[in-house]
Amino acid sequence: MMKTTTTATITTTVFLFLLCFCAAPCKTEHCAGGNHSVKIKSLFQFGDSFADTGNALHLYPNSWVGKPPNGITIGKPTGRFSDGLVIFDYIAKALGLDSPTPYLDITGKSTRSNGANFAVGGVTALSGDTLMKRWNISLPFANSTLDVQLQWFRRYLLRTCRRRNNNKSCVSDLLESSLMSIEIGGNDYTLLLLKDEQDILAHKKNRTFISGPIEEAKKSMLPLVIHKITSALKRMMSDGATQVFVHGLYPYGCTPGYLTRFPAVFHNLTVDKLGCIKEANDFVKYHNHHLRQGLLELQEQNREVNIIYVDIYKIMRSLLTHASSLGFAKTNVTCCGAGGKYNYVYTVFCGDYRSGVRPCKQPGKYVFWDEFHLSQAASQQIAKRMIPKILKKPYPVVCPRALSYG
Ligand SMILES: *[C@@H]1O[C@H](CO)[C@@H](O)[C@H](O)[C@H]1NC(C)=O
Ligand SMILES: *[C@@H]1O[C@H](CO)[C@@H](O)[C@H](O)[C@H]1NC(C)=O
Ligand SMILES: *[C@@H]1O[C@H](CO)[C@@H](O)[C@H](O)[C@H]1NC(C)=O
Ligand SMILES: *[C@@H]1O[C@H](CO)[C@@H](O)[C@H](O)[C@H]1NC(C)=O
Ligand SMILES: *[C@@H]1O[C@H](CO)[C@@H](O)[C@H](O)[C@H]1NC(C)=O
Ligand SMILES: *[C@@H]1O[C@H](CO)[C@@H](O)[C@H](O)[C@H]1NC(C)=O
Ligand SMILES: *[C@@H]1O[C@H](CO)[C@@H](O)[C@H](O)[C@H]1NC(C)=O
Repeated sequence: MMKTTTTATITTTVFLFLLCFCAAPCKTEHCAGGNHSVKIKSLFQFGDSFADTGNALHLYPNSWVGKPPNGITIGKPTGRFSDGLVIFDYIAKALGLDSPTPYLDITGKSTRSNGANFAVGGVTALSGDTLMKRWNISLPFANSTLDVQLQWFRRYLLRTCRRRNNNKSCVSDLLESSLMSIEIGGNDYTLLLLKDEQDILAHKKNRTFISGPIEEAKKSMLPLVIHKITSALKRMMSDGATQVFVHGLYPYGCTPGYLTRFPAVFHNLTVDKLGCIKEANDFVKYHNHHLRQGLLELQEQNREVNIIYVDIYKIMRSLLTHASSLGFAKTNVTCCGAGGKYNYVYTVFCGDYRSGVRPCKQPGKYVFWDEFHLSQAASQQIAKRMIPKILKKPYPVVCPRALSYG
């Protein structure tokens, strides 16, 4: 994408820039009258394919995600891993904003200030280096991991405020009226759990118990993933972010992707009453629990920041439980797939021109669009349950105690 030297220079510049400007009173200047509320004017999203609205497609213009039937419900493929919109779009809408542009599609001339979407399909929270050194895992897709997305964010601030003549309060004004949203980590775990998949499918290795890989994920990977997420939030807060939204991981064990690939790789899995893989979902719950703990600690240490956590696991389980009354006829098969029990054939992706995958006739009746990603209809339902928790209006800016800014 970019030469490393350029990146380094830009990062340093941005860093200095922020240092200078955050030495200005940042939030405190507004605090003379006590707590107040702000209107959210910008949305910044970090994450993976669940939130990507075009960055992966920008990096890989020939990727299947840019091909029909992706986007079929909204008329054309957009780079979203969906037949239509994703949760992020609905959150933007609820805030009264146009869906922010994918960061990589923002041109130098753009003057819009409704935020940016840094999420990239397929990325991990941990860096490619860490995954390789610790687990011999190579990134299957883009390497724009969370750290890279944070660098992009700083470049965005730099560019935007340069256009505003480096107005001293630009960064803090911008961040004070922004909502920062992160969803990431699912790919890290999936890559670890399915690490030997190829060998197992080729009968070069056997794996009977999932408990081993899950223990490995719990003990060695999870603390790093949680730390990566909370460190990212700390960086944003030290730059002046005041409103932060994090949702946990989905019940991956219910996805057609896991339902297809896990039984092929692990034997002796437990299926729960919703037809989901219990071991995978128990792990997701464990992750979400620890994520929430990490966020509570952060909130404790940063009382002037509003940290919103929403448990998407619970929301989605509830959606699956009440699927038929919500108009969903299919809860465990993909709409866009190439066959098999869950209408998903491993390595054949929706939009892959070689594969001849076909979409179902009524995507709105399916929870899952493809092997992992939600249909627009499911995204809308989930967003509907999430948004009231985000819109705890008015957005409080809780003024810091004098001591912390001394
Ligand atoms: C600001 O809000 C915090 C947390 O809700 C509260 O503890 C504090 O008393 C409030 N301060 C003022 C001046 O209202
Ligand atoms: C790392 O993975 C590669 C293939 O993905 C394999 O060829 C190599 O043997 C592995 N190395 C170790 C140390 O396991
Ligand atoms: C990311 O990938 C691109 C192209 O594949 C490469 O040029 C770049 O050096 C990589 N960046 C990192 C941080 O690994
Ligand atoms: C800086 O921006 C603020 C609000 O964005 C504006 O009120 C102020 O006039 C600007 N100051 C300068 C020097 O441009
Ligand atoms: C895996 O298990 C099968 C059946 O139990 C056995 O035939 C095969 O040799 C095993 N493969 C390896 C690599 O252990
Ligand atoms: C399957 O797992 C259960 C516990 O989860 C265990 O008691 C049982 O022995 C396992 N069966 C086989 C065939 O491995
Ligand atoms: C998939 O869901 C259907 C209900 O829509 C259910 O009847 C079926 O048992 C489920 N299949 C599996 C393998 O869980």
